[in-house]
Amino acid sequence: METTLILLKPDCVKRRLIGKVISRFEDKGLRIAGMKLMKMDEELAAKHYEAHVGKPFYAGLVSFMTSDPIVALAVEGPNAIEVCRNMMGATFGFKAAPGTIRGDYGISNQYNLVHGSDSPEAAERELGLFFPGGEGILSWSTADADLHACD
Ligand code: RTP
Ligand code: MG
Repeated sequence: METTLILLKPDCVKRRLIGKVISRFEDKGLRIAGMKLMKMDEELAAKHYEAHVGKPFYAGLVSFMTSDPIVALAVEGPNAIEVCRNMMGATFGFKAAPGTIRGDYGISNQYNLVHGSDSPEAAERELGLFFPGGEGILSWSTADADLHACD
């Protein structure tokens, strides 16, 4: 069982796609363990995207991510990190396959709707940034938990 950090980026929120995107994760069988509508400040954006410091798109990325609200989600399930990354699709909307979130809802490089942690180490670090000390991450069983048990 893994928990991953998913961010619904400002373009997703502003296009009123919060419900549709969360539904995809729920429909897949993942559990929403934490959820916050919030605005990132520059300090949080800098920590979250520290791996991209110095890249040509970094300043624009921080500016975009702090421009309007986001939704931070802690999403739990078997292999949740890989499952969510596959559901998100390739980074750039124009390359993302149909059937993925980015492939179905966008064509832009930067305004690509969602962020998802890309490794267990990243998930742990990023969950700690958005849900410090685990606060806001709740433990409960979905009604169909037995159908989604790890085998
Ligand atoms: P994310 O971190 O948001 O889940 O996306 P990712 O792993 O698929 O892509 P990553 O390489 O980590 O890039 C982070 C975000 O920066 C923006 N970006 N823009 N204009 C560009 O060339 C460019 N490259 C990256 C995107 O918003 C990307 O999701
Ligand atoms: Mg990334």
